Amino acid sequence: MKYNFDEIINRRGTYSVKWDGGDFIKKAGLTSRYDDETIPLFTADMDLPVPQPLIDALHKTVNHRIFGYTVFPPEYFEAIQHWFKKRHDWEIKKEEIVYSPGTVHALNVAVRAFTEPGDGVIIQRPVYPPFTSSIESNGRVVRNNALKPDEEGYYHIDFEDFEAKAKEESTKMFILCNPHNPTGRIFTVEELKRLSEICAANNVLIVADEIHGDLVRRSQTFVPIAKAAGDADQIITFTAINKTFNVAGLHCTNAVISNPQLRGKFSKAMGHQSPNPFMISVLIAAYTEGEDWLEQLKEYIDGTMDWVVNFLADQMPKVKVRIPEGTYIMWMDFSGYGLTPDDVHDRIYHKANVLLEDGKMFGEEGLSFQRICIPSPRPMIKEAFERIAREFEDVK
Ligand SMILES: Cc1ncc(COP(=O)(O)O)c(C=O)c1O
Repeated sequence: MKYNFDEIINRRGTYSVKWDGGDFIKKAGLTSRYDDETIPLFTADMDLPVPQPLIDALHKTVNHRIFGYTVFPPEYFEAIQHWFKKRHDWEIKKEEIVYSPGTVHALNVAVRAFTEPGDGVIIQRPVYPPFTSSIESNGRVVRNNALKPDEEGYYHIDFEDFEAKAKEESTKMFILCNPHNPTGRIFTVEELKRLSEICAANNVLIVADEIHGDLVRRSQTFVPIAKAAGDADQIITFTAINKTFNVAGLHCTNAVISNPQLRGKFSKAMGHQSPNPFMISVLIAAYTEGEDWLEQLKEYIDGTMDWVVNFLADQMPKVKVRIPEGTYIMWMDFSGYGLTPDDVHDRIYHKANVLLEDGKMFGEEGLSFQRICIPSPRPMIKEAFERIAREFEDVK
């Protein structure tokens, strides 16, 4: 491996929400303990260095010494088109791409542009919490088509319930998360087709958050819903380099919208955006020169996930976990201990001093779960799990 992902890089003092965000984290109610010994593995960014071509591109931009207003060069669009064609066999036209300074921002813009206050929006809990807030904080109503775990902890779509919710007069939108955060599901082409058929039959617009689509296990394939559905006329897709290349702080999301009316409405609601030059140069470098790094990263993440599953089977066999098909997130069910969620929280967050994310944040379906983001150096992940295991020894 060319990159040394085991290297622990000190991120304190770099404005990192994970490593410098104690006050914010406490205020947000994630934990009441946060100090220099805390291992923060809650938010989805990596404690791993980005590919060298991205660093070179940033240096080049810095060396210009002038950071004025920007325009998107043709290479920006070509890089996106090339990446999605090569990696996902998905043809995107240049004019279909609309920039947004972030995915959560784009979600809010879409909800406001395409629904009215009081309208219903389908989501599939347990799910990334800003899905809920983008609906509720804009005065729309959540229609929860909860994903259903089987005995093996593998999540399935309840299509009957989905169709019933789509048929409701006030339902206007479905926000899909694929790969799904936090369950790790990658929905199959058949599932995606069925979802899109139901939405089309009931005039429900699909907004697909696919920003984890490049971070899947090496044995897995991800198919964008716009491709699986055949007809993408009523589909808005969000893609991003933030997760894939660990550049969330540079704020770069690209919506892909083939329907010109929808695109016009979305662009108008988004308003004029003047992206920063660092983001432009990083995207071009990532999508043209980042593939080799990504393949190494995927191998590393797969290895860490294997380690976690083996460690838990050995040291904490009451935790139910499975290797997710996609994302770098693991979703662990602690119900086997018979402890209250508060007791589980106390042992992990206060005693072990490891900061994860309580499953209840993802909806009531997640009450007995803990979510961990594992794209950190493996020695750090090992220490976190060793600390946690020690605090559960008395109930092993
Ligand atoms: C599914 C999903 N969507 C959106 C985001 C946030 O994206 P952004 O930083 O571009 O707003 C995350 C971050 O964890 C995520 O997991």
